[in-house]
Amino acid sequence: MNATPIHARPAPTGRIAYVDGRYLPHAAATVHVEDRGLQFADSIYEVCAILDGRLMDEEGHLDRLERSLAALAIQMPMGRGSLRAVMREMIRRNRLKNGLLYLQVTRGSHRRDHPMPAIHKSTLIMTARPFPVAAIEKRRTSGIAVVTAPDIRWGRCDIKTTGLLANVMAKTEARKAGAFEAWLVDRDGLVTEGASTNAWIVTEDGVLVTRDLSHNILAGVTRLGVLNALAREGFNAIEERPFSVKEAYAAREAFVTSASGGVLPVISIDGNAIGEGQPGAATRRIHALYAEFARSAAGG
Ligand code: PDD
Repeated sequence: MNATPIHARPAPTGRIAYVDGRYLPHAAATVHVEDRGLQFADSIYEVCAILDGRLMDEEGHLDRLERSLAALAIQMPMGRGSLRAVMREMIRRNRLKNGLLYLQVTRGSHRRDHPMPAIHKSTLIMTARPFPVAAIEKRRTSGIAVVTAPDIRWGRCDIKTTGLLANVMAKTEARKAGAFEAWLVDRDGLVTEGASTNAWIVTEDGVLVTRDLSHNILAGVTRLGVLNALAREGFNAIEERPFSVKEAYAAREAFVTSASGGVLPVISIDGNAIGEGQPGAATRRIHALYAEFARSAAGG
């Protein structure tokens, strides 16, 4: 079979991207060859879900964007109000009802040199695409398989940079093994998080466990949404602490959270069935509570 090279594939018709003040056809949207995002992964990103034309957890994503940019001393490309306006314009121009908005801010372009240049103008990029709603809902009803992999990432995983090679490698190995996600494991045998999700278990005693926030994991916006939704229900059997792979194998239920998938049940880890080997009742309930909470808080 003669596969069409990726660069020769036609642009997705009608898709519009945003780069530095301009809305452009997706295929025509480009950045400078010396953009530091390209050369050094000197850049921050966010992925925001759009449901029924509304941005989910918008303020949480913007809060984290500002935190990540501040940690690297990258300028906000524009004020928060203007950023919100561009995000909405992207949804409108791409005629999206359900989809994902991708937002990236790079330090900008500069003659290649390692030290961060003192003067720079950051680059703002946005793309948007429809959501594979049916595929995600199928995962939610069938559950997903997870495999574990050593966490070989750097020491500031709380900053949402585009330096994602370790995550990409782990996810690729997971897919080769027939799993949907990789759970990354630190040197002490403790799960940090998924390659692009936060990791959770429900213990035999019905306690919900997810790793505490530190430099070792990303503070997931969906993670926070789930915690807030449960707090609203008065549910307090929650422990924010590391858990081992062994503890995960013995869990009654497990799930992952992310903006792109919400709450997704995990039915096996490294080939070991979790609980009954099918999505559990607690996970289903948590998804329903989170979905309701997120919709009620969604921006216009
Ligand atoms: N991933 N942990 C990692 C390493 C992530 O990359 C992500 C998000 C999460 C979940 O965060 P949130 O709930 O804010 O989406 C946790 C996005 C979706 C991605 O890279 O596509």
